[in-house]
Amino acid sequence: MSAAGYEGRTIREKVGEPSTVVVLDQRLLPHREVELELRGLCDYIEAIRDMSVRGAGLIGAVAGYGMLAAAVESPDRGLHEAIEAAGRALVATRPTAKDLAWAVERQLAAIRAETSPGGKRRAALETARAIADFNADCGRRIGLHGLPLIEAIAAGKAAGGGLRGRPRAVEILTHCNAGALAFVDRGSATAPIYEAFERGIPVHVWVDETRPRNQGAALTAWELGRRGIPHHLIADNAGGLLMQRGMVDLVIVGADRVSRRGDVANKIGTYLKALAAQDNGIPFYVALPSSTIDWDIEDGVRDIPVEERDEAEVTHVRGLLEDDGAGGTAVSRIARVESRNARVESRIASVRICPEGTRAGNFAFDITPALLVSGFITERGTCAASEEGLLGLFPEGRESTKEGVR
Ligand code: MRU
Repeated sequence: MSAAGYEGRTIREKVGEPSTVVVLDQRLLPHREVELELRGLCDYIEAIRDMSVRGAGLIGAVAGYGMLAAAVESPDRGLHEAIEAAGRALVATRPTAKDLAWAVERQLAAIRAETSPGGKRRAALETARAIADFNADCGRRIGLHGLPLIEAIAAGKAAGGGLRGRPRAVEILTHCNAGALAFVDRGSATAPIYEAFERGIPVHVWVDETRPRNQGAALTAWELGRRGIPHHLIADNAGGLLMQRGMVDLVIVGADRVSRRGDVANKIGTYLKALAAQDNGIPFYVALPSSTIDWDIEDGVRDIPVEERDEAEVTHVRGLLEDDGAGGTAVSRIARVESRNARVESRIASVRICPEGTRAGNFAFDITPALLVSGFITERGTCAASEEGLLGLFPEGRESTKEGVR
């Protein structure tokens, strides 16, 4: 991603050692920028599971390299079994995002097609690179295909007259982080926004904080700030009011899995935004690469698996300690955050926000029915949120593949 201090892609091969990659530890953002090296399969599995890396597209790309690491580290004898087991272990880390299973399936198909150990390892390397390149290319294309939506709103606003001679910004609301950090580059939901901003179209983004892990507050606000894009962070429940008051022109969100008929799994809270958008006649678009489509699931509301995570993500909030409000020092609560490569002493702390012992439910995703979605923005163009719409752009989806890992 193009951000001061962190230029280029969110996943980079270590020079001369392609099965080792360097990523940002997203658990520490926006407070610390710490890079992690992922070397063996265990590193890859752990990084996806503990969300050092997260976001559907990025965990797909990381899984691609995880398969390469498995191929490199296992001996020739038993290589086939080791690779198959690695695929199962990687897919099990996070159940909702389709890109993860898609990347593993793509790796398995490429590796199975080769007979010699050397051939399998070569195929794994080529495929890991191809997955990352595809992901980055999709970000660029999604940006270009989503741009006309923003341009049209900007043109309408310009025709309506500006504010003190200045054109009024296109007001876009987004949820969670479907930005460069969730992908290899540029992101999905943010890609059209970046494209518009770089072309001088005035945009302003309302960033949902996105409880419980606050990916909007921690990651989207960080990305937008690095690029100088005007934005405000809002509490998760504020979007409905802003829509009623005419303060939102367009909603763009990402997706973790989209069913054949167009139901959308995305970070918890997305569905409520879609309901509010429909009630207020505001276009609600979902940006996704084709690797997010699950052609084997028809009814996403019923059948897309929803990840349930640790209760502590709901009962506690993590953040940077500043003044503790009472004028006292917060030193006793300073947390030590350990990264795999470096021990970082910081003021990042976790605080409980409910009575001790309160039980919590932590559903990480929800499903927005296709009927509430105005359209999809994909790497091949925009389409209706329906089976016909998706097949119009991706006719290869007619032959759904039941093999591979789900
Ligand atoms: O749990 P996360 O942070 O991995 O969640 C994934 C997401 O970031 C979102 O749901 C996002 O909007 C889609 S990812 C392209």
